[in-house]
Amino acid sequence: MENPVKVVLFGLGPMGKLIAKGILEKKGIQIVGAMDIAKELSGKDVGQFLELGKNIGVTVTDNAEELLSNVKADIAIVATRSYLKDIYPTISLCVKNGISIISTCEELSYPYYKHPKLAVEIDELAKKHKVTVLGTGINPGYLMDTLPITLTGACQRVDNIKVTRMMDSSKRRIPYQKKIGTGLSPEEFRKMINEKKITGHVGLVESIAMIAAALGWKLDEIKEFAPEPVIADREIVTPFITVKPGQVAGLKSVAHGIRGGKPVIVLEFVSHAGVEEEYDAILIGGVPKIYEKIAGGVHGDIGTVAVVVNMIPKVLNAPPGLLTMKDLPLPSAVTEDMQTYLSSKVFSA
Ligand SMILES: NC(=O)c1ccc[n+]([C@@H]2O[C@H](COP(=O)([O-])OP(=O)(O)OC[C@H]3O[C@@H](n4cnc5c(N)ncnc54)[C@H](OP(=O)(O)O)[C@@H]3O)[C@@H](O)[C@H]2O)c1
Repeated sequence: MENPVKVVLFGLGPMGKLIAKGILEKKGIQIVGAMDIAKELSGKDVGQFLELGKNIGVTVTDNAEELLSNVKADIAIVATRSYLKDIYPTISLCVKNGISIISTCEELSYPYYKHPKLAVEIDELAKKHKVTVLGTGINPGYLMDTLPITLTGACQRVDNIKVTRMMDSSKRRIPYQKKIGTGLSPEEFRKMINEKKITGHVGLVESIAMIAAALGWKLDEIKEFAPEPVIADREIVTPFITVKPGQVAGLKSVAHGIRGGKPVIVLEFVSHAGVEEEYDAILIGGVPKIYEKIAGGVHGDIGTVAVVVNMIPKVLNAPPGLLTMKDLPLPSAVTEDMQTYLSSKVFSA
């Protein structure tokens, strides 16, 4: 491979693992380092950890500073945490080492609403070190923000937007099923949500803020309602867990972007085991009215790997700073050697 894009991975949980596999399937890109705080992973070859049946010559470390002082990378893929304050140290370290970042951190997808000061700080740091930082994934990052924003491109007028995701959570990775409360009693669910022991879905507020910013709408407020448990009315056996009648099968999360006293952006995220019909639907009230429904929905984990990997060349070609999906060129699949999509930017040796 001539001058492949060099990637370091931060976070080798289920998502990081899938992303690593997704990268290894592509041409013109190479994993040069991997870091996770989990001590039990330290010292293992990434190939061994991914059960590829061969080593790839990259050993997982739990020491980020040491890793970055030993390897030269173009981009870091950070799949560690959902909240910006938790990933800030990793962002800061990578940026100061001249490495661009794509992260699945939900709050990084549009941090200007909840964390304006930190967002500006990251933007300035990235510009100073001439690198680009992006938070993305399937949701937030694509289905409930980038896609509806793109659809409004055919509208002369937009009055309101409603996006609904109806998803069978039983097909998703275990940490995801845990964070939406699968298998808990309704009381445990509410307690754990209140005590922030489970997060529910994170990202509706970020998606609304991104849509509003793209449309130039100044919202009165973004209202996120407490997630409601969806209770199983029958036994649901999933590949990972059996949910008994009366237990939590998943959740429904709703958020509104309010303008002129009216909910002009409505996001409904429903995810539970045993959903009857899976779909992703976008309804735009305006001229013309647009209704788009993806029958069967997009698998969240597969979609996240795809969005993260497909955005690598867009991020490497982008101007420095903290960017969001609405600021970058149209997302598109990387189907050829990664080099095909790169501008003349010079990469690290
Ligand atoms: N935007 C989207 O569409 C999207 C889609 C999928 C996932 N996500 C988000 O992506 C993140 C990763 O997902 P996951 O399911 O793989 O989560 P996970 O099961 O919590 O795995 C995260 C891994 O990263 C490790 N880690 C935590 N802090 C670290 C740090 N500072 N440096 C290096 N490693 C660190 C964790 O170690 P410990 O287990 O020891 O803490 C764990 O091994 C989650 O926040 C998830 O919500 C977003």
